[in-house]
Amino acid sequence: MENLLTKLDAYKKEIASTPVADAQQLEEFRIKWLGTKGLVKAIMGEMKTVAPELKKEAGQALNEFKIFAETTYETLKEAAGGAASSSTARIDLSLPGDEMPLGSRHPVVLMKNRIVSIFQRLGFAVAEGPEIEDDWHNFGALNLPEHHPARDMQDTFYVQQNPDWVLRTHTSSVQIREMEKGKLPIRMLMPGRVYRNETVSARSHCFFHQVEGLYIDEHVSFADLKQTLYFFVKEMYGKDVKVRFRPSYFPFTEPSAEMDVTCFICGGSGCNICKKTGWVEILGCGMVHPNVLSNCNIDPGKYTGFAFGMGIERPAMLKYGVNDLRLFSENDVRFLKQFTSAI
Ligand code: PHE
Repeated sequence: MENLLTKLDAYKKEIASTPVADAQQLEEFRIKWLGTKGLVKAIMGEMKTVAPELKKEAGQALNEFKIFAETTYETLKEAAGGAASSSTARIDLSLPGDEMPLGSRHPVVLMKNRIVSIFQRLGFAVAEGPEIEDDWHNFGALNLPEHHPARDMQDTFYVQQNPDWVLRTHTSSVQIREMEKGKLPIRMLMPGRVYRNETVSARSHCFFHQVEGLYIDEHVSFADLKQTLYFFVKEMYGKDVKVRFRPSYFPFTEPSAEMDVTCFICGGSGCNICKKTGWVEILGCGMVHPNVLSNCNIDPGKYTGFAFGMGIERPAMLKYGVNDLRLFSENDVRFLKQFTSAI
């Protein structure tokens, strides 16, 4: 009995001074003391040799030693971050799962998708083109020869290394690329980013986004243009919205018009958004100029067509109540994540 107690004391000291620095040493500790052939089990077996009158005392000492060895092991395991062998025991299956962070679409993309989906229902397909354009596709083919005063309507960024290249000022350049392919009829939408050299402020930016549309076939008339845009406005802004066309000028369309809708903020009674007029301009449009058709090898005697173009940022600002255009391009996550559930 004396023997047993001295042995337990020595074991305790050894356990207390065993260095455990990593998972491997921890495992060695476990095998040496708590394993099936470990020292704790072995010394428990010595109970058999203890005289009956001393069994109670010996049992208590052995039990206490066993608990000491086990709790030391648990403490070391905590410190080592959990041994690999029993790491699964640390998973609490009753905890609720981690939420998957949801991404969100950019408000300009949301608005673009809305516009595109309405025209897609009328059979329009989507076409894209380069943002760095040559002079011909951005201007020349669109009936804007060199030195044409209307070039000043769009403050153009020129590429320094090559004065024939510009950052496209509108996606009408993609209309030219589609017409040049020579496949008729054409019923296309051209969404994309465009650039104009304007001072950046809450109301204007040096780049923005457009959706333009083009329809070319035999016998396309201004009535088709109006019906198409009426449909768009009803789907986009509701059936109570009124529409008006104002004569306008674009070098690439003749006749040309701008389309206004009754202000969707005040309903037409006059507010700051519509500058008290009750109307908001939303797009430019017209019948494709015969020169433009000829420039793309389409016979203007046989084919006619209409085109239209609208900005995306302004309707997006009105729809989502955004009062500063710069917010769209600052990539501030606090702004962007607000659009998670918007359609
Ligand atoms: N390209 C014109 C613009 O950017 C819009 C437009 C397109 C007007 C097609 C008429 C026809 O302002």
